[in-house]
Amino acid sequence: MDYGSEAMLQRPRRNRKSEVIRQMVQETHVSAANLIFPLFIIEGENQKTEVSSMPGIFRYSIDNLLREVESCMNLGLKSFDLFPNISEELKDKYATESHRDESLYLRAIRAVKTNFPEACVVTDVAMDPYSSDGHDGIVENGEILNDETLEVLGKMALAHAQSGADIIAPSDMMDGRVGYIRQVLDDNGFKHVSIMSYTAKYASAFYGPFRDALNSAPKFGDKKTYQMNPANQREALIEANLDETEGADFLMVKPALAYLDVIKLLKDNTELPIAAYNVSGEYAMLKAAVQKGWLNEQRAVTEVLTSIRRAGATAILTYHAKEVLVNKWL
Ligand code: PBG
Repeated sequence: MDYGSEAMLQRPRRNRKSEVIRQMVQETHVSAANLIFPLFIIEGENQKTEVSSMPGIFRYSIDNLLREVESCMNLGLKSFDLFPNISEELKDKYATESHRDESLYLRAIRAVKTNFPEACVVTDVAMDPYSSDGHDGIVENGEILNDETLEVLGKMALAHAQSGADIIAPSDMMDGRVGYIRQVLDDNGFKHVSIMSYTAKYASAFYGPFRDALNSAPKFGDKKTYQMNPANQREALIEANLDETEGADFLMVKPALAYLDVIKLLKDNTELPIAAYNVSGEYAMLKAAVQKGWLNEQRAVTEVLTSIRRAGATAILTYHAKEVLVNKWL
């Protein structure tokens, strides 16, 4: 029988034949509400310096940070993740600058929350930007100490909460830190402050530009004794179960693009919302190709964000957050 044409009952192309139908059957959407914009902060006044490996991304002094937050708020982008660039002479072995009351970071949190109380401020808890060793924990004889580091993380998280943070995001990958931070917050009257845990954070090559932005690269060795091996998927479930039991409100996967399977895995194994961090190296790669004229920027950026949502992420931390709204790409 002539099977080629008439007898073909299923023709999936029918649902792709016009823009209206394509939109009708579209399964995944990205909106401003899903996006969290990472912002880099530096000391000084009226400062705005571009990160050379991240075209379009700047380090802001607090006054300019407030201007940037305002322009984002006007676009409907209302969640921010703040990261400080700390000058070398303020760094030490115990990251004491991370919980000093007048530190750049705490002043920045307070400034944003005072001026924009309705903004959602996510804060990063890890020692690396403040550590003279450039590691996320206390270093002793070349080793990263776990339980001793928890005390520093607890002080940092408490200082963030006292300064007005809405969501605390521990990115350090020490064991037990979600439970420890939850306890410190609860004991001090911050039961309402959320925890977005970097649950499956991999020892990735894609953090390079971020470390340039903050000048926070490890002074020796690598982060493989605490961040996860990129070859592992099942191990992410161990971390996810722990974080959930310890009281996390969100589970994060990082990086995003090379780890879409991990996003999907966590999505299928928890009821908590999943966040994914579309990291600096993913941004840098795309921008470099666009600058060379090798990729169409709008199509590449929207495809990346849609794919991360399709894999199962509710929230996306992304350096593209503002440009997609400015350019009305969504
Ligand atoms: C610090 C931290 C890192 C990132 C977020 N928090 C770097 C690292 O672990 O070395 C990376 C973000 C990015 O690359 O965009 N603990």
